[in-house]
Amino acid sequence: MVCKESEQLEEFVEIAKQFTEQGKVANYIPALGRANKNDLSIAIYDKEKCISAGDIEKKFTLQSISKVIALALALMDRGEEYVFERVGMEPTGDPFNSISKLETSIPSKPLNPMINAGALAVTNMINGDTKEEKLGRLLALVHDMTNNTDISYSEEVAHSEYETSHLNRSLSYFMKQHGIINGDIEELIDLYTKQCAIEVNCLDLSRIGAVFAWDGVDPQTGRRIIPLHISRICKTFMVTCGMYNASGEFAIKIGVPAKSGVSGGILSAVPQRMGIGLFGPALDEKGNSVAGIKLLEMLSKRYNLSMF
Ligand code: DON
Repeated sequence: MVCKESEQLEEFVEIAKQFTEQGKVANYIPALGRANKNDLSIAIYDKEKCISAGDIEKKFTLQSISKVIALALALMDRGEEYVFERVGMEPTGDPFNSISKLETSIPSKPLNPMINAGALAVTNMINGDTKEEKLGRLLALVHDMTNNTDISYSEEVAHSEYETSHLNRSLSYFMKQHGIINGDIEELIDLYTKQCAIEVNCLDLSRIGAVFAWDGVDPQTGRRIIPLHISRICKTFMVTCGMYNASGEFAIKIGVPAKSGVSGGILSAVPQRMGIGLFGPALDEKGNSVAGIKLLEMLSKRYNLSMF
């Protein structure tokens, strides 16, 4: 399906763009620091059409948005019981990379799959004999959800994060000590950083959102990609933990399942209505796209998107 530029959407983007000045591009992964702070683009995908504004061809890396896709795959591979024996279901008021709760909560398992500790544990559960096979399976799911087999990962961003991922290594070694994860930690960090470096554009992201919006079915082809109950679990985590320690405010102001990443992407799924993919790399202090949130806020008000 071709995505058509929408004048109305363009107007919203122009207003929201003013807020990019308030944010900062993430630079703790050095390769992300080169993004253009003033970028803002969006694609909205539903059963009949796709509309867009801004440069929707521009590629960016999934970063934490990949956590929700990896969770869907781990749940398909291992089942709910196995996954939730090792990762919790509760939101945290802490930043995404916080280590503190791992030591203070007994048993020592990460609170949810959307924070880094939980996501590392989930990636460790993906089936496959080698890390290449695991990554290949994850990419295959992304290809199915986006209907785009050209998607791969950015070697540059993956390498840049691999070289600087000391906190994620610490989280992983801690969890290995406590029996939450197993295997070689360097291999896990290699797989996780490649997972986070999977490159998409807004259109791809909107299609992923649409699959979640239609409970695991691609609304265009009618093909089931994710089982209904797993898609529901993913969407519930998006509501309760998808925007980190801003998830409560986001639920009140916007009211749709969403997942952000430090590259500036936000994936949203409006149940039975649309998938939304947006990219705006200027981030607020919690690591969410500052103009992206403003844009979603305007759209939610205008089109009554809140599910609550
Ligand atoms: O593990 C990390 O730090 C990154 N690969 C992903 C973090 C992220 O996207 C947090 N998002 N707001």
